[in-house]
Amino acid sequence: MCGIIGYIGERQAPDILIDGLQKLEYRGYDSAGIAVFDHNSIKVIKTEGKVSALAKKKAAADLQEVHCGIGHTRWATHGEPSDINAHPHSVGRVTLVHNGIIENYAELGERYHPSPLSRTDTEIAAAVINACYHGDAVSAIFEAVNMFHGAYALCIMFEDQPDTVYAIRKSSPLIVAVGENETFLASDIPAILSHTKDYYLPEKGELAILTKQGVRFVGATGESIEKELKTADWDESAARKNGYDHYMLKEIFEQPAVIEQTILRYKNDFTIFENEDFDFEVKGNIHIVACGSAYHAGLMGKYAIEKLARVPVLVHIASEFRYDNPILHKDDLVIAISQSGETADTLAAVRLAKEHNVRTLGIVNVRGSSLSRLADHTLYTLAGPEIAVATTKAYLCQVCLLQLLAVRMAGKGLTMQEYKDMMVAFEALPAQIEQALSFCDDAKALAEKFKNAEHIFFMGRGQDSCLAMEASLKLKEISYIHSEAYAAGELKHGTISLITENTPIISIMTDRNRLPKTASNLKETGARGALITAVTYSDVRADAYTDEQISIPVMNEMTAPLIAAVKLQLLAYYVALSKGCDIDQPRNLAKSVTVE
Ligand code: G6P
Repeated sequence: MCGIIGYIGERQAPDILIDGLQKLEYRGYDSAGIAVFDHNSIKVIKTEGKVSALAKKKAAADLQEVHCGIGHTRWATHGEPSDINAHPHSVGRVTLVHNGIIENYAELGERYHPSPLSRTDTEIAAAVINACYHGDAVSAIFEAVNMFHGAYALCIMFEDQPDTVYAIRKSSPLIVAVGENETFLASDIPAILSHTKDYYLPEKGELAILTKQGVRFVGATGESIEKELKTADWDESAARKNGYDHYMLKEIFEQPAVIEQTILRYKNDFTIFENEDFDFEVKGNIHIVACGSAYHAGLMGKYAIEKLARVPVLVHIASEFRYDNPILHKDDLVIAISQSGETADTLAAVRLAKEHNVRTLGIVNVRGSSLSRLADHTLYTLAGPEIAVATTKAYLCQVCLLQLLAVRMAGKGLTMQEYKDMMVAFEALPAQIEQALSFCDDAKALAEKFKNAEHIFFMGRGQDSCLAMEASLKLKEISYIHSEAYAAGELKHGTISLITENTPIISIMTDRNRLPKTASNLKETGARGALITAVTYSDVRADAYTDEQISIPVMNEMTAPLIAAVKLQLLAYYVALSKGCDIDQPRNLAKSVTVE
């Protein structure tokens, strides 16, 4: 995630840009920059670090009578956080800021910009637009974006077109807002809400042309597009949550976008900055260490890596690892997973691995965090900042990244067909997640059935048993209903004694091979009066042995649990909501556990 802002009007643009960037800083904060028209030429000010560092640089730059500009706060995807890699980027007559990922930037770079200054896909985007620009901005932008694969929101200025800003998007968010003799661009509404509540939502293929007088939208052949002006009716707190009642719900709804970012980033290209000398071949064992939901993500990762790469994986609860006298060999790899990168037990596990001279790889969401500095190598999940204590989007990105890593580790061990199947599965995921979000109304209705339960049991086999653990944790941590998760076959070795009339059981069934076995387990519980909900494919007729079915589309079995996860996050959310719980800050919990 990155934050984008733009302004044209009568007021001092740099102040408005910096103010907007501060409000967007939650989207990323490793570097920031602005570009403004200053006496008919474009001046760029940018820096590594937070927007406050940019504000100092701007103050020193002595900008006067500047009324048009664009700005950016960055959550690095290509190229480490640095002054050079910070946006805006300029090539020739073009200066722009970008949110998203241009997947084919390397090949475009070879053709249009073989010697870039930075290591970003954004500089290449600027070069392509510049190469297409011969005085007609509209056709240059459309010609260029037709070549871009991936996701983008771009705000573009041309050196010879003062006081005009162009903006176009695909997948990444962008709004165009209008005030009295001024127009704004922003990644989201809160960034401009103190100036105006009126805004447009540009769609893919609609180019916004902003001047002080207003905005017009044009299509690829220059035709005018009429758009509906919307009005935001949010107060300050609703604005921070982008209109959602809770951060948790906002973050659940961000999942299509952040998963798309993570997939675009790593699908074809694991050669990222911190990892350039990383050898993906592991001759020994892989040890995954993590806590809480990150541990559950690790269990899913074990499944993917063992299945695809055929490397043995041991998953350790980080707080146990160092006291277990773990058997570590120099050919092993320790993967530490952490959203915050600050969890004390996870850090201690990595230190122990380093003492044993074992390679360490961090999978981290927060850039610059302790884990990213401690681990030999780091892969970043691109979930963006997560505020709700109960993790949703960071967990999903961790699982997805581990699956992408499994494909990379498998390398030539996969047939071309297997590789293609996985790529098709990843490409379909963002839209499938988007579709899963329409489960809200059903989740609300189902929540009424669960809210008075004293105990809820989750079960599944294989990957589904790992997801069951996460789904159970999600439900109990925010709704305070006691819940446990079981590998389905284990239920009859003890826990079935707890099943009585109307005890809710939620069974996750995305593994078709094991489906008949799980169905038998469900029948055993049904015979004891359990109230059974199955989360399974829409083509599975589970009604003979279940009371409810939460359907997911017929899809790849490796990625199917991610869709089940989204639906179960929504269910947990609505159960907690119906019980009136403090969803974003559940009792006794902390987002980041920095003590042992
Ligand atoms: C806390 C959070 C969990 C998280 C765990 C590990 O318990 O509430 O959501 O999974 O810490 O945190 P980490 O930042 O290392 O992923």
